[in-house]
Amino acid sequence: RHSSPHIVAIDGPAGSGKSSVSRAAARRIGFDYLDTGAAYRAFAWFVSDRGIDTENTDAVVAALGDFDYSIGIAPDEHVVRVGETDVTDAIRDPAVSALVSSVARIPEVRTHLTELFRSIAASSQRTGIVIEGRDITTVVAPTAEIRILLTASEEARMARRSAEISTQSAETVAEQMRSRDRADSQVVEFMSAADGVTTVDSTHLDFEQTIDAVLDVINTYREAI
Ligand code: DC
Repeated sequence: RHSSPHIVAIDGPAGSGKSSVSRAAARRIGFDYLDTGAAYRAFAWFVSDRGIDTENTDAVVAALGDFDYSIGIAPDEHVVRVGETDVTDAIRDPAVSALVSSVARIPEVRTHLTELFRSIAASSQRTGIVIEGRDITTVVAPTAEIRILLTASEEARMARRSAEISTQSAETVAEQMRSRDRADSQVVEFMSAADGVTTVDSTHLDFEQTIDAVLDVINTYREAI
């Protein structure tokens, strides 16, 4: 193919259903899918695997040069690798979640990963790619034809997250989520929609209805694609 892939940019907080909805939407329209949070998680995993203190900004930034990251972008093959190591499951560990915000707050890390996301997106051989994260509509792909903010009430988000994580109490999950939201929202604004971004509120929608709502927005702008 000769032209660059079309981009659907989706942002939102944890527990909004963002990842599963974005992946399902991508599958329905035959697009690739890129979960950008996975790279922030993988970098936090990498730094901690090397024994680097995430508060040591200079050491964290220096580690970027050795961060060899890859991710499958077809919606059905989503293996995350750092070097030869498959970290697909490891990056979902609560210990990693607790570290991510402290590396994601570093501007050099964000610039480096933003460039990585743009080059991964450009490598897509399909018509387009759905990119999902916190700053896709505003920083990574602000000129995307379709930009969506997927939100849900705090209550709904916590209920979904604790249903996903059966190994911890609902209170523990809620507290971890609140503290991550607090830390993350100091880095990028993802709780309200930027200019030209369409909000989809999933508070009262189930999974299928949320996918349909996102596909409705995509179809509204489909002429652009
Ligand atoms: O979506 P997630 O929970 O997997 O994201 C993991 C972390 O990465 C989250 O704490 C915020 C950060 N993140 C970010 O700062 N920018 C992005 N585009 C995606 C994720």
